[in-house]
Amino acid sequence: MVSWVITGANRGIGLAFVEELSADSRNTVFALTRNKPNSSALLELESKLKNVHVLQADITDVPSLRSVAKEVEKVTGGTLDVLINNGAYLSKERNTYTLDTYDGKEDLLDSDCETFFKVNTLGVIKTINVFLPLSARLHRLLSRKSSRLAQV
Ligand SMILES: NC(=O)c1ccc[n+]([C@@H]2O[C@H](COP(=O)([O-])OP(=O)(O)OC[C@H]3O[C@@H](n4cnc5c(N)ncnc54)[C@H](OP(=O)(O)O)[C@@H]3O)[C@@H](O)[C@H]2O)c1
Repeated sequence: MVSWVITGANRGIGLAFVEELSADSRNTVFALTRNKPNSSALLELESKLKNVHVLQADITDVPSLRSVAKEVEKVTGGTLDVLINNGAYLSKERNTYTLDTYDGKEDLLDSDCETFFKVNTLGVIKTINVFLPLSARLHRLLSRKSSRLAQV
C-alpha cells in the first residue's frame, strides 16, 4: 500500500499521474485541486474508485494545505509515502519569453516573476513543510520496525 499526494491534479500531467496511479488498487491517491467542484475528471474518478480522494488546496495557502494534510492523516493513519509537487504556474502565452521579449513590458515581467516565485518556489516550500511531518512519521515507524527486525 503506497500513499501519494499530487498537487495540481485536476488537469495536465497531474491528472495523468492520478489516472495511472489509481489504476493500481494498492495505491491510495490524494488528488489536490484548487477548485474541487470544477474538477469533473477527478470527481468522476473518485466516484468510481475507492482509492482516489479529491481534496481542495491552493499551494500558496498554508491553512488549506494543513486541512488537506489532516484529511490525508485520517485515511493513512498519519503517514505519507510520496508527495508529487506537480502544481505550478505556467504561462502558456509567455513560456518562450526571454528577458529581451519583455522589453517595454517591465510591469508584466515583475508580475510574472512575482507569481512564478509565489507559486513555483514558495508554494512548493510550503507544501513540503506541511507534508514533511507525515513523511517523517513514516520513516520513524519504518526505522523502529527495521531495528526490531535487526534484534530478531
Ligand atoms: N508540460 C510540460 O511540457 C512540462 C515539462 C516539464 C515539466 N513540467 C512540469 O509538470 C508540471 C505540470 O505541468 P502541466 O503541463 O501539466 O501544467 P498545467 O496543465 O498548466 O497544470 C498546472 C496545474 O497546477 C495547478 N496550479 C497552478 N497554480 C496552483 C496553485 N497556486 N495551487 C495549486 N495548484 C496550482 C493548476 O491548477 P488550475 O487548473 O486551478 O490552474 C493545474 O492543475 C509543472 O510543475 C511543470 O513545470 C511540465
